[in-house]
Amino acid sequence: MFTLSLLFAAVLPFVSAQSDSPAFRIEGVEAHFTQAGIVPSLLPTFNPSALLTINYDGVGDLTPGQSVSQEQVGPTPTVKIEAANSSISLSDKYTLVMADADVAGTTNENSVTRHWLVNGVTISNGQVSNSSATAITQYAGPAPAEGSGPHRYVIILYQQPDSFSAPSGLSEPNIGVDKFDLNAYVKDSGLGNIIAANYLTVEVGQSTVSVSATSAVESSTLSPIATSSNSGTASSDSANPTQTSNNENGASIFGVTTSFVGLSLVLGLLMA
Ligand SMILES: *[C@@H]1O[C@H](CO)[C@@H](O)[C@H](O)[C@H]1NC(C)=O
Ligand SMILES: *[C@@H]1O[C@H](CO)[C@@H](O)[C@H](O)[C@H]1NC(C)=O
Repeated sequence: MFTLSLLFAAVLPFVSAQSDSPAFRIEGVEAHFTQAGIVPSLLPTFNPSALLTINYDGVGDLTPGQSVSQEQVGPTPTVKIEAANSSISLSDKYTLVMADADVAGTTNENSVTRHWLVNGVTISNGQVSNSSATAITQYAGPAPAEGSGPHRYVIILYQQPDSFSAPSGLSEPNIGVDKFDLNAYVKDSGLGNIIAANYLTVEVGQSTVSVSATSAVESSTLSPIATSSNSGTASSDSANPTQTSNNENGASIFGVTTSFVGLSLVLGLLMA
């Protein structure tokens, strides 16, 4: 396996390196957002400059759109942020939002359920820190109505400039879960660009609604990109420092295989 991975590394260094890079994985997230209909039904545009990874205790890093149970996502997740490249600075203040974008095909630009809203978060050690933040809505785990289909829960990190001003009604801490107009909130408060975002899917009970087949099917075919990056992250995260180089070789073998699928998907999307 070591020899084989050396061979792959020698023959295909470009593809291998690319499949592991944050910039490449960010492209995968962008493709997922479009395929799942989150762009444009919730977000008019999405050009992130960092990779956002959602991590729940006992589950690990989620792949984009990963289907998880309500129980698994009950506790507050860790939100990891990785810049696309070294010219991106992550030293500002940000606002973190989690919203229920409902099932694919729902037009929800003007009203989504707010599950988490924290102003003034910072990025510390590659993850979102709320140590000097204001939690307007504390994290409240997904709770979709039984039989209402697979809901898409989107976590978004917005740039929060000094001129940010929380609109009345959402300026005090500890306001509960409720519907709100995400895009109006962003505009009225003066939030900046989306820095990064990702999403997960939770379904409770048997769906009685028909979800747009297009988004479900095509979204799942995109999972090799995420699987590749997730495997890399998982192996480097698992506490086994002495095995690091072997893990990296293993990950790049996997990365090469899946990156072909990923690259052709991205090319296919561009040409579609
Ligand atoms: C870094 O990433 C940003 C956002 O994706 C991109 O606009 C920029 O061109 C990249 N810069 C370099 C040097 O790759
Ligand atoms: C920060 O997050 C933790 C974990 O969710 C929470 O218990 C705490 O209340 C939060 N603090 C602030 C200031 O938001």
